[in-house]
Amino acid sequence: MRIGILTGGGDCPGLNAAIRGVVARATGAHGLEVVGILDGWEGLMEGRTRPLDRDAVRGLLQRGGTVLGTSRRDPYIHGEGEASVAATVAREQLDALVVIGGDGTLRTAARLMAEGVSIVAIPKSIDNDIAGTDASIGFDTAVQIATEAIDRITTTAESHHRVMVVEVMGRTQGWIATYAGIAAGVDAILVPEQPYDLDEVAAVVRGRAARGRRYSVVVVAEGIASPPGTNLEAPLDAFGFARLGGVSALVAARLEELTGFEARVTVLGHVQRGGVPTPRDRVLATRFGIHAADIAAGRRFGRMVALHGDVVTDIPLAESVATPRAVPPELCEAARACFDQGPVRR
Ligand code: F6P
Repeated sequence: MRIGILTGGGDCPGLNAAIRGVVARATGAHGLEVVGILDGWEGLMEGRTRPLDRDAVRGLLQRGGTVLGTSRRDPYIHGEGEASVAATVAREQLDALVVIGGDGTLRTAARLMAEGVSIVAIPKSIDNDIAGTDASIGFDTAVQIATEAIDRITTTAESHHRVMVVEVMGRTQGWIATYAGIAAGVDAILVPEQPYDLDEVAAVVRGRAARGRRYSVVVVAEGIASPPGTNLEAPLDAFGFARLGGVSALVAARLEELTGFEARVTVLGHVQRGGVPTPRDRVLATRFGIHAADIAAGRRFGRMVALHGDVVTDIPLAESVATPRAVPPELCEAARACFDQGPVRR
């Protein structure tokens, strides 16, 4: 049996650990041959592949990015769907594909599966927004990076008596903002899942100043609505999703007006997707990779590997792409607690 493996959509730390896990298990325990497909769906459409054996994945556990490369190209948007990948699948004699991706890539995987391509999926996304799994590869590392950045921004905020607005990624969900914001003990967290009122944030900032804390840190998820009276134009990416980024500048400008404090902006951007994965992401990716190889060897196609509590299991792929996974109300409540009370730190 021969399986292909690809990474699609935005990269993240932990992809290489997952590739390593798949290859080690598939070639070792199951005696399968593995073919790496380069640059995601693009490589599958263009027939760009390389063989992957156990030696080819040595030293990958802690390496960021993806050695297979990725792209935001898609057979249904930039090709003829299943017909545009069929030649490579046939030439490489692939019995199945292991697809490591976020929601866009997994949606395409589900469509290909419905058209007869055998697929096993592994969820990855710093956004942590894939339904049916308690965690996606890359999220823990992104939270770690964002938290450390916010900690650093906090000390300079204090020195300069400024309001610091930090924008984090996450697309339409506020997972990174919520986790990093809570972990860094910020003064307000704005997420797409909750309406927000900048007058309230301004009151928090002023309240802190009145109590001797002449600085505040506000975390903004990139996917929040623009403040009233403003409109941030977002170009579309290759999947037709809005390319987000920049709303924090509008938030900061308004907060400066409302509070009289100098407000500065830091957009963390792709730094959240770079560098080495955390130990937690390395372990998650390894476990996901091993489980995916087991599913493929057992010919149980159309499944997505998932974490439920601390158990690695699998669910129907189609279930994972139905709706994005939102930050649950109890976590939003924790974020609201910061927002409402404007806690005085240290
Ligand atoms: O989905 C992961 C993600 O990093 C989002 O948080 C962000 O909005 C988007 O990808 C950025 O995509 P790109 O790297 O194509 O700019």
